[in-house]
Amino acid sequence: MGDPKRYTVTAALPYANGPLHIGHVAGAYLPADIYVRSLRQRGKQVLFVCGSDEHGAAITMKALQEGSTPQQIVDRYHAMLESSLKGLGVDLDVYHRTSSELHHRTSQEFFDQLYEKGAFTEQEEEQYFDPEAGRFLADRYITGTCPKCGNPGAYGDQCEKCGSALSPADLIDPKSTLSGGAPVLKRTKHWYLPMDQHQEWVDTWLNQGLLDGTQHHDPKEWKPQVLGQCNSWIKDGLRPRAMTRDLDWGVPVPLDQAKGKVLYVWLDAPIGYISATRQWALDHGRDWEPWWKDKDTRLVHFIGKDNIVFHCIVFPILLKEHGGFILPHNVPANEFLNLEGRKLSTSRNWAVWVHEYLDRWPGREDVLRYTLTTILPEFRDSEFTWKDLQEKNNNELVAILGNFVQRVFVLCHKYFEGKVPESKRPDPSDVDVLTAVNEAPFLVRGHIDRYRFREALAMAMMPARLGNKYLTDTEPWKLHATDPDRVATILYNCLNIVAALSHVLGPFLPFTVKKLQQMLGIGAIPWADILSFEMPRGQALGKPEHLFSPITDEEIQPELERLHAHAPLAKEVQTQADAISPANAIKPLIQFDDFARLDLRTGLVLAAERIPKADKLLKLTVDIGEEDPRTVISGIAAHYGPEEVVGRQVVLVANLEPRKMRGVLSEGMVLMSEDADGKLVFVAPDAAIRPGSEVR
Ligand code: MF3
Ligand code: ZN
Repeated sequence: MGDPKRYTVTAALPYANGPLHIGHVAGAYLPADIYVRSLRQRGKQVLFVCGSDEHGAAITMKALQEGSTPQQIVDRYHAMLESSLKGLGVDLDVYHRTSSELHHRTSQEFFDQLYEKGAFTEQEEEQYFDPEAGRFLADRYITGTCPKCGNPGAYGDQCEKCGSALSPADLIDPKSTLSGGAPVLKRTKHWYLPMDQHQEWVDTWLNQGLLDGTQHHDPKEWKPQVLGQCNSWIKDGLRPRAMTRDLDWGVPVPLDQAKGKVLYVWLDAPIGYISATRQWALDHGRDWEPWWKDKDTRLVHFIGKDNIVFHCIVFPILLKEHGGFILPHNVPANEFLNLEGRKLSTSRNWAVWVHEYLDRWPGREDVLRYTLTTILPEFRDSEFTWKDLQEKNNNELVAILGNFVQRVFVLCHKYFEGKVPESKRPDPSDVDVLTAVNEAPFLVRGHIDRYRFREALAMAMMPARLGNKYLTDTEPWKLHATDPDRVATILYNCLNIVAALSHVLGPFLPFTVKKLQQMLGIGAIPWADILSFEMPRGQALGKPEHLFSPITDEEIQPELERLHAHAPLAKEVQTQADAISPANAIKPLIQFDDFARLDLRTGLVLAAERIPKADKLLKLTVDIGEEDPRTVISGIAAHYGPEEVVGRQVVLVANLEPRKMRGVLSEGMVLMSEDADGKLVFVAPDAAIRPGSEVR
């Protein structure tokens, strides 16, 4: 399949019920942005759309929690989301919102068309209703006892304890979260999308790439886990799904017989991509339709894995039933990003919030972009730690990229008055490095086109690695007195390598690339010129600037403390009556004095490393408020990796006789709790407290 005429790229509309966190960024916005920036570099026509998802139970629940109105909630978070995306350099053409009049109109027209075509089936059913609140209850608004595990706090759609998918009728002893009272069943009518009737073509389209008998896309280009999730739905058999809801917040169903009903959020939200496109077209005096209807447009949806079936099955059925719309060419969904050993969670405040990062780390947008790109959860879940951000910054951005650029500019200022040297004598020994650098743009492009952004970035950094090695090998500072022409050639080559970097890093590090272009005194190098581009000889160069600065332990420490201080304790505790057995029976009684001889202190783990040839042990550096942190050997390596331990608050037995283990003096013991199955967890304070505080 050749190149399309234009690309419509979407990134999942974030719910306007909270700020943007790094999990959202790594899931959808950063890969989408890299993809779009790369296409733009190549002169492709691209439209990159997004907006806030302002309907659905997520929003009304938040309003309920805060005692405000849904409109207030979405106004606040819409503004925050937009400025976070902008601040991180996500190069959207439009950031729209689903509460807009244009969106309401667009999705109502869409519904009308489907309705006229007979795409829905009508069904009466009984649904829970809260007589006190006078409202039907969305699944999330009903809690009760889980029939599978007995958890008394299960929701109408899911039990978070055992993970079972539920429907409200499954709950034992259901309660309304609005009034606390028991809900009653009441008849109501809804419009269903009979997905079962679409199963056959969806299967053929997804798995063979065939649509109406013609080749639409190559399924081999899709991620296996995306097709896997779809196929598990298909295997179970697609089922009718209600496209309307009894709610008072959302897009009203445009039918006289549907007073008080709104469109299902998964019908409304994806249409948000279309209304965003229409808004952009209005603002720019353009036509929106080619972006959604021309067969020569390639539609790509960037999303997280929790949105896969909605983008690969539900929305395509809606688009096809409506008629005239193209279907997605690919849906390169990402897996999840974890944070410091735990799942990111908005409700538990276990997150790195983008607006806070932008505030607290000004000028370091690209450090976050870089780190996240190196760990994008492209094929499996991955993990962000502050330590990793620090290391990637120090060891790669500072030591490789920044260092190379800095060396080149310093030498040009030293030997050539800050001008691009007049290189006179090409040298055959330089051919290898220059050829390798010339390949970089093509390698980067190849990976980006296959949605492999991690590898693409590794390739984009290659010229900097090669450049450093080239300088070290050729040692121009030693040749200055004897062979100035050779020095001119070396530095001229180096400047061209920096110029190449300003191109290949463009999709990843837009802020840094702007600086590079200013330092070089050039603009963006068009794709067509990338092989022939040469720095204009004699042109004045900017000052040697540090593109990146090292990040110290002291700088990341507060981030770790904030994270732990603001996260309420995870509510994952299991109650088990069989925890105590003869094997671990309660020990004989002691006196209070026996207990008082123990000195227990809170501590903060500053560093952790494995001990070679001891697979059970970690060597920890623990701050308990003394002049120097202590070294403690802990037998937890089978349960925790070093990166999961750094930044944790722990409880330390501080007056335990020091003991040498594996040649290292261990000065205390970290308290752990172990259950009957051998699961080991930390005993820790439930809120941040100064290291060295007494435990008693
Ligand atoms: N708001 C949804 C979420 O964050 C995603 C919406 S994607 C869209 O999971 F297609 F519906 F817009
Ligand atoms: Zn359960």
